[in-house]
Amino acid sequence: MASHFSFLALSVLSLCFLLTAMAAAPRKPVDVPFQNNYAPSWAIDHIKHFNGGREIQLYLDKSSGTGFQSRGSYLFGHFSMQIKMVASDSAGTVTAFYLSSQNAEHDEIDFEFLGNRTGQPYILQTNVFTGGKGDREQRIYLWFDPSKAYHAYSVLWNMHQIVFFVDDVPIRVFKNSKDIGVRYPFNQPMKIYSSLWNADDWATRGGLEKTNWAYAPFVASYRGFHVDGCEASEHAAFCATQGLRWWDQTEFRDLDAAQYRRLQWVRQKFTIYNYCSDRKRYPSMSPECGRDRDI
Ligand SMILES: *[C@@H]1O[C@H](CO)[C@@H](O)[C@H](O)[C@H]1NC(C)=O
Repeated sequence: MASHFSFLALSVLSLCFLLTAMAAAPRKPVDVPFQNNYAPSWAIDHIKHFNGGREIQLYLDKSSGTGFQSRGSYLFGHFSMQIKMVASDSAGTVTAFYLSSQNAEHDEIDFEFLGNRTGQPYILQTNVFTGGKGDREQRIYLWFDPSKAYHAYSVLWNMHQIVFFVDDVPIRVFKNSKDIGVRYPFNQPMKIYSSLWNADDWATRGGLEKTNWAYAPFVASYRGFHVDGCEASEHAAFCATQGLRWWDQTEFRDLDAAQYRRLQWVRQKFTIYNYCSDRKRYPSMSPECGRDRDI
């Protein structure tokens, strides 16, 4: 009897501990070796490892670009990577960091860095696909040269919002607008991808500027392969249980006032394109854009 009781007490205690641990504050992104979370997707010979995999470089030359993907698939969480973009003449090159599900009606959360001629600014293009439908491009200039130093690019994804961060600055929010008929990624696990490739048919000044292969190989450097998500393969049912993990907690369901101010700053000073205000391409505004206006 006594032993049953203590077993029960212990179980309750450890359950409490588990719940507290899961609801804890976000872990600060940590530098973990590449191979802990990722594997090359193609052209493995175009990826170089340094420092036990704490840092890698992707190479793009005339023969090939390259890319990598997470080993696991995730349903919600916080994903970040530090990247130093291709330096000098990077026109025509695109470096991408994105989350995507692997099916026909796929969900996707995209960062794409469009290179430029030496001294000309990069463009950061973001997009969100839900159920196979994208067409939600936004483009900004950055407030720094992303090829000079490492900067952190991250995604926070929970049932309430998807937030794109550059360092600590939220540059875009995609709110769950299911209540007004907009599909929201909630049930398709995503993998995390990154790649470097030649896109000189569209990337720089709409394809006018071509890749100058005299500067090849083009190199993008990475470190800090931080993943803090619910790994779907093992815990599919569990991931669907809302409210338990740190990213589900109240403070992560919306930006706070200071974050909204910073988002506003990005919108006013750095935005060069927003699908929400492109009446030529989209005569009727997507419903989620109306919600965006409230910000
Ligand atoms: C490249 O530089 C030109 C000229 O400053 C600018 O118009 C363009 O937006 C820049 N970025 C890309 C990716 O085209």
